[in-house]
Amino acid sequence: MKKVFVKSYGCQMNVYDAERMTDMLATEGYSETKAMEEADLVILNTCHIREKAAEKVYSELGRVRELKQEREASGQETRIVVAGCVAQAEGKEILRRQPAVDVVVGPQNYHHLPDLLRKSRSERLVDTEFPIEDKFDHLPAPSRAKTISRGVSAFLTIQEGCDKFCTFCVVPYTRGAEVSRPVAKILEEAHRLAEAGVRELTLIGQNVNAYHGEGPDGAVWSLGRLLTRLAEVPGIARLRYTTSHPRDMDDELIAAHGDLPALMPYLHLPVQSGSDRILDLMNRKHTGDEYRRLIERIRKAQPNLALSSDFIVGFPGETDRDFEDTMRLVADVGFASSFSFKYSPRPGTPAAEMGEQVPEAVKAERLARLQNLLETQRQAFNHGTVGQTLDVLLEKPGRHPGQIAGKSPYLQPVQFESDVHRIGEVVTVRIVRAGSNSLFGEWVKPGDRAAA
Ligand code: 5AD
Ligand code: SF4
Repeated sequence: MKKVFVKSYGCQMNVYDAERMTDMLATEGYSETKAMEEADLVILNTCHIREKAAEKVYSELGRVRELKQEREASGQETRIVVAGCVAQAEGKEILRRQPAVDVVVGPQNYHHLPDLLRKSRSERLVDTEFPIEDKFDHLPAPSRAKTISRGVSAFLTIQEGCDKFCTFCVVPYTRGAEVSRPVAKILEEAHRLAEAGVRELTLIGQNVNAYHGEGPDGAVWSLGRLLTRLAEVPGIARLRYTTSHPRDMDDELIAAHGDLPALMPYLHLPVQSGSDRILDLMNRKHTGDEYRRLIERIRKAQPNLALSSDFIVGFPGETDRDFEDTMRLVADVGFASSFSFKYSPRPGTPAAEMGEQVPEAVKAERLARLQNLLETQRQAFNHGTVGQTLDVLLEKPGRHPGQIAGKSPYLQPVQFESDVHRIGEVVTVRIVRAGSNSLFGEWVKPGDRAAA
């Protein structure tokens, strides 16, 4: 049997796509390996969001090329595929920069992979056109065993692409226009995952709350309506969605946060900046106060809501004052966890052409200050859960024998001693201690709940 090794960079969509590629290649006789040295086929599933991510691909390709040469010397063939957003953005340039690459395939075309692999025996190929057909119709479902081996928490792509055109972002160019999958297809996938033992679904998309898929009734369904329907799928205990845009938080979705116990009280809602001037230059189409008010409305629906966000520092033209506005917004809102980045100019995006690029040293200093504040908030949030009883979805054995590990509703890793529980159960745990990354707790037996 031939072996395929896939390495994914970047976002959760790439993790999902990598699984779909391995599922498809399984039907072509490839088994998955975690060791690149033994792979007959190496796929790098790439990310183009920031310069660092894109450059990593070329250094990794250099290593894969050496491996290819070594294997060749011992009579073994290695094929190399570059997939994902760098493939989409750079296409032929990749073949030019790295002669060992056999195929370059964009995120909308990976259902063509078997065909591309066959054809690339005679010539090196690039497939980055946006096809008319829906790739999901051509992708086989994984085996039950494969799904089980991937764990009790699964990603499910419900939409792809983005029409927002934030001025710093390559996504609208690499992933294309916003497309929502039909409700029936999503339900089918959700049922299949649940039947194989999946308990938690994270709905993913580049701008997932812009979801507007065709419902079984012919009407257009919003994300709120889709979540309500998914909460009825037997076996599904938890729902999450990521990543969202503040402008697409509609009333139905906000209400779902109050109405659906399965929808976890944790929301990743990137704000990027707290300065109205920068938000405008970013084309985010909202102000800092509009974001604050939106958060208030969602917290009214779900008072336990914990938030996470993405931030960019050093966007072109960002002054000290603009940056202080970001720090103030963070202090006002309070985030349980966040991602923050130095602005990275991306070729072809409007912000890359803007004057007043911020010097690297200033970006570094601002990032350090912001990350310091965000880390303080994260620790405070984690410590704040000590003494609470939280539901924990059990995912795997713990670090030490006799321990079991899972996630809180707020995505915090939780460990506790147990020899009676099984992976996939949702168990009530009293948190007794917060470490730097994990919480430690004790099982609360059902009868003891009132005393907790
Ligand atoms: N530079 C820095 N960060 C960026 N992001 C997107 N584009 C850029 C860029 N050019 C960040 C945003 C986004 C996250 C996925 O990556 O914060 O929400
Ligand atoms: Fe990029 Fe997100 Fe803005 Fe879309 S909404 S352009 S994916 S940052």
